[in-house]
Amino acid sequence: MYRNDAGAHGGSYAPPEVADRAGGPDIDSVSAMCRALGDPTRMRIYRFLLSCSCPVELGADGSVRPLDGPTVGEVCCTVAGVERITSTLSFHLRRLREAGLIAMERRGRRIACSVIPSAAQQLAGFFADANRSSAAKGEQTMTDGSPSKTDQDVHDAVRQRYGRAASAVLGRVDGAAGCCSGLDGDGQPANADPITRDLYSSDEAASVPTAALAASLGCGNPTALASLQPGQTVLDLGSGGGVDVLLSARRVGPTGFAYGLDMTDEMLDLAERNRAEAGVDNVRFLKGRIEDIPLPDGSVDVIISNCVINLSADKDAVLREAFRVLRPGGRFAVSDVVWRRPIPEAIRGNVELWAGCVAGALLEGDYRDRLLRTGFAGVSIEPTRVYTREDAEAAVESACGSGGCCGGMAEELDGALMSAFIRAVKPAA
Ligand SMILES: C[S@@+](CC[C@H](N)C(=O)[O-])C[C@H]1O[C@@H](n2cnc3c(N)ncnc32)[C@H](O)[C@@H]1O
Repeated sequence: MYRNDAGAHGGSYAPPEVADRAGGPDIDSVSAMCRALGDPTRMRIYRFLLSCSCPVELGADGSVRPLDGPTVGEVCCTVAGVERITSTLSFHLRRLREAGLIAMERRGRRIACSVIPSAAQQLAGFFADANRSSAAKGEQTMTDGSPSKTDQDVHDAVRQRYGRAASAVLGRVDGAAGCCSGLDGDGQPANADPITRDLYSSDEAASVPTAALAASLGCGNPTALASLQPGQTVLDLGSGGGVDVLLSARRVGPTGFAYGLDMTDEMLDLAERNRAEAGVDNVRFLKGRIEDIPLPDGSVDVIISNCVINLSADKDAVLREAFRVLRPGGRFAVSDVVWRRPIPEAIRGNVELWAGCVAGALLEGDYRDRLLRTGFAGVSIEPTRVYTREDAEAAVESACGSGGCCGGMAEELDGALMSAFIRAVKPAA
């Protein structure tokens, strides 16, 4: 099934076929991979190699060679810490290699190992398809959260919440209350939520329409941190009322371009009004889901996003899509809410708290692992605001209303949640 023209350890391997004749993943390949993984020790070895995200060289013939990666000895030390497998390691590695899951390359007296990215993608694709078809039968549980909720529950709650938020600002724009009613005396959003308040400098605030600032629901200021350069193409995932797209458009200048992507019609209407009021031409708002970005491969220099990825029920899909649309060397520069400690169970399955940017947030290490698994390099997660017990309670109350859904959790929440700036790079080809 896979070309394997190597000797016992060295050499390169052709990756598995991408799809079978019916258009889905190649069932024979996936089945062979699953058989090879049907052993806890091999699963541990494979998981360890996945977490290394080591670079590989792809030959013109589709062959894969590890450029770096742990040696067999290092795999053994790491995995044998969990289970003593020294004597059987070669056998397990051979099974993984024969199934097309990993490649091994002799370097002098050492042998480096790495996962074969296309095989990992094929496995992931198979299970993503299975998940989608069970969703179609109404059996889906949430990809990234509570088993009692579906991705659709979350999607609906998020869309409704942000549709209402946009309508409130549009109402103010159109209505007697005037367009500044969402702002305080300093021209900042009059917003009691500790996550979204005071994010922009007064200079930035003065440079965008008041309705864009009033609709700001982010948790950071990604354009200020993303080092945007004139001429670049930027994409904002979940652009809301458009504040970060308009700020980006200024930074990339007339030779650059800024896209905003959002799924909520009311937000897109508001963003388009703000664009027209700002009088900028190098901006376009797209309707769509961040899990399925409507832009071609390699078409974006920098992806920004402000407090949105935590809202997705399928974050791996978002990261895969971000990776796909970035050009090699392109940057991921995102503000998001992140848990610093494991999320309390009482919060995890709460849809209001998910839509309020709390329950869907990832644990810091999980965020990093997912980015690395997707293929990103240079991952860093820098705290920009750590929330005190009072802040976290206010954020929970703003999502659920007073009376709340998390009474008695003050201690657990103190310092557990932060806003962070997350950087990563798509490796240059
Ligand atoms: C918390 S608001 C942030 C808006 C904006 N980034 C800002 O800083 O003001 C979240 C926005 O993301 C959008 N959104 C949430 N999940 C989405 C998804 N899966 N696909 C597309 N847009 C999404 C919502 O419609 C909403 O406009």
